[in-house]
Amino acid sequence: MRDFTFYSPTEIIFGSHAEEKAGEAVRRYGGSRVLVVYGGKSAVKSGLLERVEKSLLMSGLCVEKIGGVQPNPLLSFARNALSKALDFRADFILAIGGGSVIDTAKAVAIGAANPHTDIWNYWLGKETVSKSLPLGCVLTISASGSESSDSAVLTDDAHQDKRGLNTPFNRPRFALMNPELTFTLSPKQIACGVTDILMHTLDRYFTPMQGNELTDALAEALMRTVIHYGPQAVQTPNDYQAQSELMWAGTLSHNNLTGLGAEKEFAMHQLGHELSGFFGVTHGESLSAVWNAWAGYVYKEDPARFARYACNVWQLEVQTDTESAALEAIKKTKQFFSLLGMPTSLSELLGRPLEADELMKLADKCSRGDTRKISKLKPLGREDLLRIYTAANREAKAEL
Ligand code: NZQ
Ligand code: ZN
Repeated sequence: MRDFTFYSPTEIIFGSHAEEKAGEAVRRYGGSRVLVVYGGKSAVKSGLLERVEKSLLMSGLCVEKIGGVQPNPLLSFARNALSKALDFRADFILAIGGGSVIDTAKAVAIGAANPHTDIWNYWLGKETVSKSLPLGCVLTISASGSESSDSAVLTDDAHQDKRGLNTPFNRPRFALMNPELTFTLSPKQIACGVTDILMHTLDRYFTPMQGNELTDALAEALMRTVIHYGPQAVQTPNDYQAQSELMWAGTLSHNNLTGLGAEKEFAMHQLGHELSGFFGVTHGESLSAVWNAWAGYVYKEDPARFARYACNVWQLEVQTDTESAALEAIKKTKQFFSLLGMPTSLSELLGRPLEADELMKLADKCSRGDTRKISKLKPLGREDLLRIYTAANREAKAEL
């Protein structure tokens, strides 16, 4: 096990009616002027926005709102929301939504505390965050884990550049998590969320680290839970048991618990972010579309690890050689995504195969013009990334 620091300070308030505690939670964390950030229309339509606003007003807080965050949130929108926060002199930012809304709120919280510079400078690594406004969230979709993660992912719409910023200042002070709020999600949104939750742990699990037993066991239990309850939630969105298991798994899958003591991987996420940056596809879909090609390209680096995954996650009997078990587990994962209705190739994702120059652009961008390698299991440079995108382009639909 490698040395690590575990910092996950977000207070989790989980269960029925959690959102009604918004007012008292903001007060507890020192807010008095709250900017509420929300998405397209789901929070308005379900009455959630109104309920949360009521809770804030009952606690004597001043409230301003900004709605309209779209999936794969845009830098231009975050800048507008930031102007509103500054005009209003907000001292607390409250997100109502999923990863897109929470990440926008994180950008606003950083920008409002640092009005001397453009927020994107932090994403570009030109400046380091040293302060931000306090932030809380009411979670409406189990997926990104942004409700307690240190990450915020935005797309610079002027340059089709989707990238994340990791800083401890991104950790929300609290997350209000009522699984019933997810009952209004479409099966597709649930499936995308399930994929993302699974991938946050898969992206941590496949590392060169050996002998990290407790972390591995936690990761495996989490993945088994998601595999068990994911299809159930897609089938029956108002299944409380399934949605609550997914909601808790979503948080634990990305607060770093399932990767402690190992190096962080995140190859799939890097590959996927380029697809969302170029084509605007949903985050979960961008991940399922490349998983199989990535796994097929790297498993030979550590077939025993993939065989362990076969045994402890997919509960396959590994009687034969490790290579066969590894390949069987990769196939099982692909079938799981297909069962959820997720794309498992670029053709399925985009409705057409990509041209050679498009694949090259993706590989070039993902390797930052061949200046960085991603992944630790097998360091992947531009040529490797091109091979993976090319394999993903060819992948046929999984046989169920
Ligand atoms: O905008 P509304 O109308 O609310 O609709 C949203 C949106 O269309 C809808 N939705 C959310 N809750 C709902 C609902 N519809 C009905 N009922 C509800 N209860 O769902 C759609 C997707 O929402 P979004 O916030 O985009 O989903 P998700 O939570 O998957 O977030 C995706 C974003 O998070 C980033 C992704 O890259 C992507 O930009 N990520 C953020 C991470 C982080 N900050 O730690 C880590 C992740 O790996 C990920 O990269
Ligand atoms: Zn993700």
